[in-house]
Amino acid sequence: MKSSNPIALFDSGVGGLTITKEVMEEFPDEDIVYFGDTAHLPYGPRPQEEVRSFVFKIIDYLLRFFNVKLIVIACNTATAAGLKAAQERFEVPIIGPVKPGAEAAIEQTRNKRIGVIATEGTIGSGAYYQEIKSLSTEINVFSKACPGFIPLVEAGKISGAEVRRIAVDYLASFKEVGVDTLLLGCTHFPYVSHEIQKVMGPEVELIYPGRRIAVQARKILAKQELLNSTTIEAKRDFYVSDLNNLSYDFVEIGKDFLELQELRFAELPIFVNQ
Ligand code: DGL
Repeated sequence: MKSSNPIALFDSGVGGLTITKEVMEEFPDEDIVYFGDTAHLPYGPRPQEEVRSFVFKIIDYLLRFFNVKLIVIACNTATAAGLKAAQERFEVPIIGPVKPGAEAAIEQTRNKRIGVIATEGTIGSGAYYQEIKSLSTEINVFSKACPGFIPLVEAGKISGAEVRRIAVDYLASFKEVGVDTLLLGCTHFPYVSHEIQKVMGPEVELIYPGRRIAVQARKILAKQELLNSTTIEAKRDFYVSDLNNLSYDFVEIGKDFLELQELRFAELPIFVNQ
């Protein structure tokens, strides 16, 4: 493994770019490959075994064709379904947002009442609940699946009446139970965090695992002596499994979000034989 090899991140779609932004900021000199599995989006309602099989296939491809030195599963649903199994199966370091997110939420809460919003798959797996409880038994965890935001974000709709309505519908119960911390357990949610914050009010802290993942990635690469400082201009390459399932409106938002001059996605034939 060479230090000049890229770091890879993947998600079911464009949500994982919220973590990619943090990783890009942390590593201005590292090449980065992003993959969004738009052919299978959304992952949230799919059985865990199916999501796990996507995770294996994607990682296998990223290793074979890009020789990546670190993989970030920039998707909570895929992390809940497949992080542990992937870590056992592959030698490359693989990390995901559940543990860092849980740690950040525990550090933040003052009243020991944490809300978790994520996909049906992530909530159903109990991954966040178990992670928080394993770190601190005295925390009360209130979880809710909020899949409604995901198709809106993918379509490039990150504000307006529809997003607000969903935020109000989904989040009312968290206000009733008085959480002081709300963990955004889906990488699509930071795009709509302004609406979430409006509904929850300024006294509730929103937690995004992205920053911590970037810091964790640095620690791993430093330990393995794989940090790259020789790149003249780091490459950032963006791929999806189905270009027809990528909205032009989102690409515009993603470009601004990542502060790039241009954002272009190419199609990767990861699932061609399926
Ligand atoms: N962005 C993904 C996550 O963090 C899931 C969205 C989906 O495909 O359902 O869980």
